[in-house]
Amino acid sequence: MTSVLEPAVRTPVTDRDAANPGDTAEAALRRDAAHVLLSNWTGAATVPSRTLYPHQWSWDSAFIAIGLRHLSPRRAQRELETLLGAQWGDGRVPHIVFNRAVPLDAYFPSPDFWRSSSAGAVCGAPADIETSGIVQPPVHALATWQVHRADPAESRRRGFLRRMYPRLAAWHRWLASSRDLGGGGLAAIVHPWEPGLDNSPVWDAALARVEPAPPESFRRADLDHSAAADRPTDLDYGRYVRLAATYRDHGYDDAVAPHAFALEDPGFNALLIASEHALAAIAEEAGADPAPHRERAAAATAALVGRLWSPEAGVFLARDLVTGEAIRAYSVSGLVPLIVPGLPEDVVRALVATAHGEHFGLGRAHMVPSYDLTGPVFDANRYWRGPSWFNTAWLVHHGLALHGQSEAAALLRAQVLDDAAATGFAEYVEPWSGQGRGIRRFSWTAALALDLLRQPDAGRPAHRTKEGEPRR
Ligand code: SER
Repeated sequence: MTSVLEPAVRTPVTDRDAANPGDTAEAALRRDAAHVLLSNWTGAATVPSRTLYPHQWSWDSAFIAIGLRHLSPRRAQRELETLLGAQWGDGRVPHIVFNRAVPLDAYFPSPDFWRSSSAGAVCGAPADIETSGIVQPPVHALATWQVHRADPAESRRRGFLRRMYPRLAAWHRWLASSRDLGGGGLAAIVHPWEPGLDNSPVWDAALARVEPAPPESFRRADLDHSAAADRPTDLDYGRYVRLAATYRDHGYDDAVAPHAFALEDPGFNALLIASEHALAAIAEEAGADPAPHRERAAAATAALVGRLWSPEAGVFLARDLVTGEAIRAYSVSGLVPLIVPGLPEDVVRALVATAHGEHFGLGRAHMVPSYDLTGPVFDANRYWRGPSWFNTAWLVHHGLALHGQSEAAALLRAQVLDDAAATGFAEYVEPWSGQGRGIRRFSWTAALALDLLRQPDAGRPAHRTKEGEPRR
């Protein structure tokens, strides 16, 4: 059985393999994916995209490292070390680490908006690196463990886990303390960028409480590189800016910041639990005590099920901590807990049924739509309001495999590979047609395709689709 913690195949390939295409479609895909990752490498980390996202992003880097380890375990270690090198004194891992060589107007919000080194000083923001002040899902311990497993001898020689362990442990401690805003043992998000699903309809009601910043007070750079119909709206951006500026103006300090937007997200917490399991394995290898991590993983799993599971909906639901209410919307984030080991059997059964049902259309749609196919505000093109993304498909694939759903897992693996190949590594795809949306040559799409190529072909369907070919 393959799980997100224990990938089935761990043998690294060499750069020479990646440069030798051979004549199969999979060899060509491997070569092209490697080319995306190598060309998005900056010397210390990988940009998600040379145009739309020209700095280092936190959860992107974790997914990128998972793919990069097949090309160069050493470089994958470096990717994570660079990110954790920008960790704040309080333990948070910022969602963006800015590259000072990139012009300020290449990305908004730029370092002069976040002003981390001054505004975040009280929380221990680094003085010599500029970062954002919010976070993204904690995929890093998971990635660190997988990178170690790609070449344990090289990892031990470099003391990779011994150096990463205290940083990862501090990161998890910060999430468990400063961010347990609901007091129930889960980590809260305080900005829609934190769960990574920026404009998901799940946040709509909570965001409606936020007074948008005036449109003339900022200039979006994203629309220079991606179609407006594929991106969040100006009104969304006004609210993103207001929330981030308010947090900044309170020193990024959760003890004093008035969080108008505070939610418990199932995907974010499921990744924390999976990473806590990985941290136990890392602790053991680094000579530390794994037991506290296992205990925290078990306690957080109970909290996840107790606070966010909805037996009526058959999916995990985000909880709005301002109103105390569960948000009744089907998001792929509600399926991501499939990656959590030790979920109750009835929860797993219901999640698998929901994935195959009308809301997500597993096997009929391309990969896993980010939001309910039947939902009232479903939008097949607009970022996280409907399109299918490669990282969430990779996670659901591993969750299905973990729980013995090998046929569905194999199908999703095949879809990820087909859609990555057909779209030139699109950022996301329209879930019915499979047409690429957003930008192309997107790093985590290439990295996760590369990762799935390293796993045995578990019953790959014979057909291949071209971009735009319907599945239903
Ligand atoms: N996803 C955001 C953006 O589009 C930031 O994390 O820039």
